[in-house]
Amino acid sequence: MKDFLKNEVFGIVSKAAEEEGVRAFVIGGFVRDAFLGRPSKDIDIVVEGSGIALAKLVGKIVGSKVAVYSNFGTAMLHYKGVEVEFVGARKESYDRNSRKPVVEDGTLEEDQQRRDFTVNALALSLQREDYGSLVDPFGGIRDLHNGLLRTPLDPDTTYSDDPLRMIRAIRFATQLSFTIVPESFEAIKRNKERLDILSLERINEELNKILLSPKPSVGFLLLEESGLLEKILPQLCNLRGVETMDGKGHKDNFAHTLQVVDNIASTTDNLWLRWAALLHDIGKPLTKHYDPEIGWSFHNHDFVGGKMIPGIFRQLKMPLNEKMKYVQKLVQLHLRPIALVQDEVTDSAVRRLLFDAGDDINDLMLLCEADITSKNENKVRRIKSNFQLVRKKLVEVEEKDRVRNFKNPITGELIMQRYALPPCSTIGIIKEYVKEAILDGIIENNYEQAFQLMEKKALELGLTPQPLQKSL
Ligand code: CTP
Repeated sequence: MKDFLKNEVFGIVSKAAEEEGVRAFVIGGFVRDAFLGRPSKDIDIVVEGSGIALAKLVGKIVGSKVAVYSNFGTAMLHYKGVEVEFVGARKESYDRNSRKPVVEDGTLEEDQQRRDFTVNALALSLQREDYGSLVDPFGGIRDLHNGLLRTPLDPDTTYSDDPLRMIRAIRFATQLSFTIVPESFEAIKRNKERLDILSLERINEELNKILLSPKPSVGFLLLEESGLLEKILPQLCNLRGVETMDGKGHKDNFAHTLQVVDNIASTTDNLWLRWAALLHDIGKPLTKHYDPEIGWSFHNHDFVGGKMIPGIFRQLKMPLNEKMKYVQKLVQLHLRPIALVQDEVTDSAVRRLLFDAGDDINDLMLLCEADITSKNENKVRRIKSNFQLVRKKLVEVEEKDRVRNFKNPITGELIMQRYALPPCSTIGIIKEYVKEAILDGIIENNYEQAFQLMEKKALELGLTPQPLQKSL
């Protein structure tokens, strides 16, 4: 296990601890990941004594600035790109109504037992006499080998102390392909109401980690089964289930959504594209309709879903910036490429798609391809080959017409000067007319043809052209 302590910072901490007369250990995620052969970034050091004092001494030795968080009894420094955090061993219980810990000094073992999972409570000694030896009083190594997530204490206590751990359990199960032991999973179900005391930012951080895992569906199924999803994102739960009328059922949109998320996860690391996949059909429950003639439909669910995105982002305290706009745009446009594929792939439809999607066209295509989850292999093959055709057309049309970042060749200023107009709605009418003509392929996307069309429209509107003062 000494191999895990190759980073020279461990030797430095070890010497400093000896000098301070305290015992120090590496603990938590670093140790877990070392055993799993996963790369890890942060190092956590637990000290039987003052974590802050040891951090300050190490900081002095290596010449690093130390950030001290006295409220939490922790301190942190950076050493050659690695974040090293120091904390005093604590026996700690949490105030039931907040995450604020009530802290008392404790031994290593007391500290280990108040951690979240046995696999996260593994510690390696930094004492000279048993340097690198493992301290594992709760069977963490056994659980690591068996891929199990188990709390060191009774799960009701561990989860109630810090309810975020319930989502962390699901997040680790998803990231590591581990199983939450049944008594622990039952405790999550029992304690789900305790989520209410958590800040949404922290919940969101865990959700993002689940979404960024190789197979996010694992996490969302567990969130659903445990009852946590109903509390975090009930709109997603509304996608569950199959209704049948006259013997006709529709697909389970929750299962479909998770399949799409897994599909997209296999093609991209883009978190926001993964969010778009998770929310792409979110408008379906609100638009579900049964007609005896045509069966089930979810008419306009793309549009309704897009409208729901800002509310969902607000509800989860996610950024209401361009990321939200991006997700909203993809949700709103997610049926467009497939509609193209099913109909004839005309230049003007491709041009409109390019215009609406702009620089996000490739992401939209990925989402749309991930959305094909039919079990009918022939159908999937046919759609995929049509997709290739659309991709080819997208390139051709963009080369020819450059509408991806469309800029109207006719500006408002030009219209005002040419027809001596004050700012008014007529300007918008002419600009829109020219834009539509370009997108429909009636004229090419260039100044000369656009100018001519503008003149024609202006004549129709009874406007009189003036000599142009300067070329615009
Ligand atoms: N921990 C805990 N309860 C929490 C959060 C953290 O007991 N709610 C403990 C665990 O021992 C964990 C350690 O603090 O291993 C460090 O926490 P953190 O950095 O959040 O997690 P890691 O296990 O390092 O994993 P990751 O970096 O993937 O989040």
